[in-house]
Formats: sequence, structure tokens, C-alpha cells
Amino acid sequence: MAVGKNVARKDGIPKVCGSALYTDDLSFPGMLYGRTIRSTVPHAEIESIELRFDPEGFTVVRADDIPGRNVVALIEDDQPCLAEHEIRHVGEPVLLLAHEDREQLLEAEVQITYRERTAVLDPLESDHSFKDIRIEKGNLDQGKALAEVVVEGEYRTGHQEQLYIEPNAVIAVPEDGGITLHGSMQCPYYVHDALQVLLGLPPEKVRVVARETGGGFGGKEEYPSMIAGHASLLALKAGRPVKLIYDREEDLVATTKRHPCVCRMRTGHRRDGRLTFMEIEVLMDGGAYVTLSPVVLSRGVIHAGGPYRCPHLRIDGRVVRTHTPPNGAFRGFGAPQTLFALEVHMERAAEQLGIDPVQLRRGNALQPGDTNSTGQVMGEDCCPAAVLEEAVRRSGFDRKREEYRGTNRGIGLALIYHGSGFTGSGEVKLDSEAALELTPQGVKILVASTEIGQGTRTMHAQIVPEALGIPYEQVETDNPDTARVPDSGPTVASRTCMVVGGILKRCSDELKERLGGLSPAQYYRQHGPLKVSRRYRRPEGLHWDEENYRGDAYATYAYSCVVSEVELDPDTYQALPLRLTAVQDIGQAIHPILAAGQIEGGTAQGLGYALYEEVVMREGVMANAQLTNYIIPTTLDTPEIEVAFVNQPYAEGPYGAKGVGELPIDAPAPSLVNALRHLGLDVRDIPATPERIMEAACVSA
Ligand code: MOS
Repeated sequence: MAVGKNVARKDGIPKVCGSALYTDDLSFPGMLYGRTIRSTVPHAEIESIELRFDPEGFTVVRADDIPGRNVVALIEDDQPCLAEHEIRHVGEPVLLLAHEDREQLLEAEVQITYRERTAVLDPLESDHSFKDIRIEKGNLDQGKALAEVVVEGEYRTGHQEQLYIEPNAVIAVPEDGGITLHGSMQCPYYVHDALQVLLGLPPEKVRVVARETGGGFGGKEEYPSMIAGHASLLALKAGRPVKLIYDREEDLVATTKRHPCVCRMRTGHRRDGRLTFMEIEVLMDGGAYVTLSPVVLSRGVIHAGGPYRCPHLRIDGRVVRTHTPPNGAFRGFGAPQTLFALEVHMERAAEQLGIDPVQLRRGNALQPGDTNSTGQVMGEDCCPAAVLEEAVRRSGFDRKREEYRGTNRGIGLALIYHGSGFTGSGEVKLDSEAALELTPQGVKILVASTEIGQGTRTMHAQIVPEALGIPYEQVETDNPDTARVPDSGPTVASRTCMVVGGILKRCSDELKERLGGLSPAQYYRQHGPLKVSRRYRRPEGLHWDEENYRGDAYATYAYSCVVSEVELDPDTYQALPLRLTAVQDIGQAIHPILAAGQIEGGTAQGLGYALYEEVVMREGVMANAQLTNYIIPTTLDTPEIEVAFVNQPYAEGPYGAKGVGELPIDAPAPSLVNALRHLGLDVRDIPATPERIMEAACVSA
């Protein structure tokens, strides 16, 4: 039995020993280096582009060199791979250069002249909506009539940078009249699709090989299609391999970030705290192009009501265009923004009602059979109350709540849920496929899922041998290569374990039947190769109405409650986190240490979101694009994080597993801000920097 055990990581030894090769470690004969020339203004017409260098030895690519369509194909195909006439944000790619000498490449000067136009930088001033979504349940007027207390508030969250350790990196190699693209990414088949459209090539002429990837967090969900396009255009024109790697500054300035968000909330309560209505408005800043914004908004609005029972509600969401670099996928995908607002709002509601914050949440927490905001009937594995109680008990919440009174310490909590897998009918549309093939020693897993540090390869390799009755060591895994693996979908949306792992589980059940009692190795010796593949199958009884946003938004949900303890420095107004207690239900943890690692990492990332990470935008460009002034929590800033699991297995997940990847980033920020509220500080915007905390202290003084 490998499931539930802390087996050795499949990718562990090479990474620890340094023999694992990342994209920048790779080299190909005749390889050139690539460089991207970018716009320096937020909104303009391009008047002219002038090369101010001797072109000898250079490959130059402009928009009119693009053999296919000049788009980064994703949802709307509105984003050009190279701007041709109009500039819509600072850092927009305009021209590409390649040269075999990096120094000469960096010295080449290009002069772009612009006719500047008015830039809209504030989402509140934008009149261009990318997507509007409304969720309605019950009858809002009825809910208002039932309310004895109404609580109102506005909450704001800023940009956040994914800050994977390894910046975006690809190498394009012209091969067999097509292109082979090696790179750092989450979604090899997204890149495969985008390159076909851009290069005008048939699928078999495009091969995408995901290399060791040093972190993604959503930041390598859509952008790799852009940089892969650039390297491929250069490589095809030069007829030589081209390596394109961003340094940290370029990565920070040009690539996607978490959507800033403004949430307005009104909730109605009976005096005992029971919710009678929720009225929520969500506004997100999409940046200059659509990218994944509609889907981010969708997850955001669906999660805005939280794991609470509320009979009457209306949630309105909008994501708008501004002339800033496009915002996109980032772990949590819209939910951290709306759940921050909701959980700070719930704390304010408790205050206004004069009810203990735990009691308010306990009284409203969803139970099996209840319906959430989209009207989905919660299954047997719905357990927010159990997660809440365990977090309260472990942290000594009630006792510390009293003890800290009158000191410079505060304690707060937040309770959230996070849907596992693609939203709505997303998994049906993806129609993912996974496969297993026999090897002389055992079996090999064939999936497009990427190992981005979270443990994909190990976790999949634990699910497979269980049914086959073979040891974990006989399962082979590799980084995906579109020439070899089926399209099991992107490595996103907390789907890699529950959804792709679920398909693999069915593959291994099928393979076991086909082996007819032989071990994989015996079968291979007697009958030769064998491959089994399966596609996603939607669990029985799930329905989603995309028109009205009603029904089963996710197959299931994972739950988390984080308790935060902070100390306020009375001189600097810095909030020092003392201890975080993170309790969650993720169904069955396939690999408890890796799962806990996901929780710890996500919690630290949430801590950064809450207190430190501020993207300073000036005239549409990130003004603090260095790690010296974009501050993330380091080991020294991260307090002890106690991680515990309350496991309610999800019957349709492989061995009861739910999603885990995104869950841990939702609760820390509201939990920390609620700990500040315990200190009497009315903070409603994050990051809660010393400046913002001081402002709150001055108001309350
Ligand atoms: Mo994504 S934010 O990797 O679903």
C-alpha cells in the first residue's frame, strides 16, 4: 500500500543532488539567445520602429513575420504575440531579437516612437468589461425583510506576484519542419495549442516538452504560451535553436499577477447571527487582455459566499480592462480575493452583532444536505464545522482570545472552502485522457500533468500501484512530452490529484483486469507491450447551468480554517505573525508530508499576501520589480505553522482524495487581518503594511 504513506519523491534525488536539469541548464548545438523588445508606455499607437545596430549576426522578428495568426490563443484570442499597431500596456512585446552572443544581444538598441493615448489605469474608471457574472439564489427582498441586523463593508486586495523561484524559460528547436519547445510550464497542451495557431503548423509538427519546472503557482499557466511563441518565431526564422529566459525584473514587469479586487458586501442577519441575505459586488482588474480573467472571476464569485448557509443572495461580478499588464492565474484563482472580503466581513458582522466569531461561523456553516450559493446540495463530505472546531481546539483560540485582551497580541481566524477541479462543466469540456503502459519492470504513467514542486509525479505514482498490487518503485514517471503523453489537461485548479489521479486510478483498475492475474513484468515478458487509457468521467448526478450559474459548481470542496496569532510592534506598526494553525479537510491525503508541504507553502504565500507583498504600480508599470523591494516572507518571517487534517473522504476521488493545491492560500490573509481586528485595528485592505496599520491605529485612537 503506497497511498497515505510518505514514500520517497520520484523527483527527489536528482533535485537534491543537483543533477536535475532545468531549462537554463540545457544547451543545443548552434543555439542563439533571444531577447524581447517591449513597450515603455501604457497606451499608444506605434509610429515607427528603428533598429539602431548593425543587423549582422542578428535575427529580427516583427509582427509581420508571424506565419500563422498573431495571437496568444487561449479564451478570447485578443492578445497579440507581438504588438503590431496598438500598445495596451507597458512591457508589451513588440519586437524579438536573437544572437549567439548574449552581450551583443543586450547592447542592441531599438527605438520605438509612439503616438500616446489616454491610459485607463484604475479599474473603477474602466468602461470596458471582459466578463459579467450574476449569481442569484432565493429572493433578495425576502432575505432583507427577514434581516434584524445589516452589515456593510468594502474590502480591497492588491496584485500579488507568483514569484516562482525559476523565472519563465524556454528553448525552441526547429526540427522536422516544425518546432520542439522545451520549457518551464504548467500546461504543455496549452502551449501546444497556442504554437499551432501562431505558427500555422499542424499538431504533429509541434512538440512541447515540459522540463523541470521551478514553481508555477498559476504564473506558468498562460504566460509560457507567449514566451514559447517568441522563442519559436525566432528559431524558425533563424533556423537554429533559441533560448529565451527572463531575468527576475523582466518576469516581474511583464508577466501575469493576481487580479486586484474590490468587494462590496452587505449581509443581513437574525440577532442570533443566522444569515438572511448576502448582497455582494466583486470588481476585478483584468489588465490589458482577457487571458484567463473570465474564469478567475467565475471562481471568485462562486466562492464569495463562502462555506455558509444563506437562503437569499445575489452576487455580481465584473472583470474590467485597464492599461496594465494582464492579470491572470494565481493559486486560488479569484477565491483568495472574495474569501478575504467575506471572512473579514464575517468578523465585522460578529462584532456588530455582539456574537463570538466562532459562534457566528458555527451557526452558519454548511452541513451535508444544505445548499451553497449556487444551489449545490452539499455532500456527505461537507465538514466546515468540524474543521473550525479542530482549529479552535488546537490553537486554544477561546483561551487566548481572553488572554490577549489588553496586550499587543491578537488572535483571529478564517473559515473557507475551495472547489476541487475545473469550475462547472470545465472538466467535461476538457475531456482529459490519461494512460498507463507496461514496461519490462512495471508500469509507466502517461499524463500531461507537470511536476512544479508540489509532488505530482510522486502522488500519481502512489495511486497507480495500489490497484495493481505492485510496489511503488515499479512505477515510472517522467516530465510530460506532448509527443508521448495524452492530453490530461492543465496542471491547475486543484485537479491534478482528484481529477487526473482519478483517471489514473481507473486506468490501473482496467490494467489489472487486462493482466489477468499476471504481474506487469510477467505480462510484458509473455505478451509484450500493453497500453491502457481512460478519459474523465463526470461523477453521477452532477449538473451545471452555465447560463444562470446554478448547480454543481464543483464535484466537491475542500475546507480550511486558519487561526493566526500576531503581535503588533508599537513603534513600527509592523504586524509580526507569531503562530498559525492550519486545519483542513482534503479528503484522503495521498502523501501526508507532501500535502502538509503544500499547506505550509500556501500558508506562507498567504501570509505574504496579507502583510508584505505590495506591487507598486506607477503609470501602469510595476515600480518595485526587484526582490529588494517586493517583499515576500522568508524563513525568518514565517512563524511556526501547525498543520492538521480532518479528513472526510470524497467517495468519487481516488482513495477519497480532494484537491489541495489552492486551498491553503485562501484563509491566511483574512485570518491575519482578523487577528489585527482583535487588537482593535480596522483593516480592510491588504497588504496590511505598517503604513496601513498605522492609519487604522490613528482612526481607532
Ligand atoms: Mo491555476 S491558479 O495554476 O488554477
